[in-house]
Amino acid sequence: MSPYILALDQGTTSSRAIIFDKAGSIVALAQKEFKQYYPKSGWVEHDPKEIWSSQLAVATEAVANAGLKAASIAAIGITNQRETTIIWDRHSGQAIYPAIVWQDRRTAEYCDELIENGYGDLIRRKTGLLIDAYFSASKIKWILTHVEGAYEKAKRGQLAFGTVDSWLIWNLTGGEKHLTDVSNASRTMLYNIHTLKWDDELLELFDIPMGLLPEVRSSSEIYGKTAANILAAKIPIASIAGDQQAALFGQLCTQVGMVKNTYGTGCFMLMNIGDKPILSANNLVTTIAWKLGDQVSYALEGSIFIGGAVVQWLRDGLGIIRRSSDVEELASKVADTDGVYMVPAFSGLGAPYWDPYARGTIVGLTRGSNAAHIARAALESIAFQTLDILRAMEADAGTQLKELRVDGGATANNLLLQFQADILQANVVRPQITETTAIGAAYLAGLAVGLWKSTDDIQDQWQIETTFVPDHTYQANPAIANWHRAVETAKTFKN
Ligand code: G3P
Repeated sequence: MSPYILALDQGTTSSRAIIFDKAGSIVALAQKEFKQYYPKSGWVEHDPKEIWSSQLAVATEAVANAGLKAASIAAIGITNQRETTIIWDRHSGQAIYPAIVWQDRRTAEYCDELIENGYGDLIRRKTGLLIDAYFSASKIKWILTHVEGAYEKAKRGQLAFGTVDSWLIWNLTGGEKHLTDVSNASRTMLYNIHTLKWDDELLELFDIPMGLLPEVRSSSEIYGKTAANILAAKIPIASIAGDQQAALFGQLCTQVGMVKNTYGTGCFMLMNIGDKPILSANNLVTTIAWKLGDQVSYALEGSIFIGGAVVQWLRDGLGIIRRSSDVEELASKVADTDGVYMVPAFSGLGAPYWDPYARGTIVGLTRGSNAAHIARAALESIAFQTLDILRAMEADAGTQLKELRVDGGATANNLLLQFQADILQANVVRPQITETTAIGAAYLAGLAVGLWKSTDDIQDQWQIETTFVPDHTYQANPAIANWHRAVETAKTFKN
């Protein structure tokens, strides 16, 4: 068998394609950023055509960069930004509305009504999720009610809904397959994580016709092949996983109690909780990690909406750095933030606060505050949000965490990771491969086509690059108390 797997990683700000070999090494990589649309305050959209064209372009480029023929790719694995909602016409293959991105808050008031009408418990029991505009259900409903004729077409079975994985598979197979996997389905707020089925009662509540929804499959199996005109070869598509679940797999957190945190646009911490969907008592969500064969694994998740994106804001919004990578140097110009705290609640606040109306806040400024203090406070805000999630997770698990495995673009930042270790008073471990999302999808695909026989075969591929050990003399508590005061300010300052 050919020893190469092509992972397609369709993220919030860029489409990526990475080819891995059997040893888990990167053979080639291509990446393309695409446009973000903010048509109104709190709205975030993508162009579905651009999602697909950028993904296809980087896949083609990666294959060319590797010097391979497409036919020598053993399988494709798909991983994706989750929750983002696309509805398209089954006949024309055209989206009927832009993709409503997971960060979009336009349905916050509708979600409030659901909470006020007492649906929180029902939804939580069935889906493991808290009611929030973050998840797909309210976005689907919004499109069906705001695009003329959409609801009637959906009832007649003429439309298809998908998260980005479904959209990619539809296009990769030339419109033949309308599928998703359990990990993505569990982010829609329509999927029952116990029965592993779309839930009739929830479909009725949201008034969403069943015929709109994709078939739900496992995370690792051959679903079909690419159409002959795509990538010039019929390649098996053999894995689908939401990007955060793929990263959990890529970090080889395959045992109960193992935790990873991905520092991407947002930050997403997941803990493997095994084969039972335990509900959180601390405002985290329960989600499906993956289904391998007949075995379903669940995870507890804390989702932070703005993580690395705060650095983009320093660059594009505030203009105090030219490139994202400049933030470490700027923040290092000062020894501390001198009492400045930033809460980057640009899209409200996710776990564990869940406040869609919170606004971004900077507090503690003095006449002496400068760009370096703000840059440092921005980095620290990522670590403080992570701390709050980790404490919630520890409370749910009833144990204290000894180490946190980290990955994602922002983990290149040593200052951030050292501060993370100090504030957590726990080891923070950066692995050699930080492309964990893509490699997770590659592992799942490789397992489906027999490139690896079992997870034991890949266990040794995870290696530590750096362990950030906390400074045990660091007094974290005063800073944490101030951070929480700043969070309260962000929560109370609403428009
Ligand atoms: O839930 C949203 C998440 O899947 C987005 O991930 O890496 O695109 O920020 P990312």
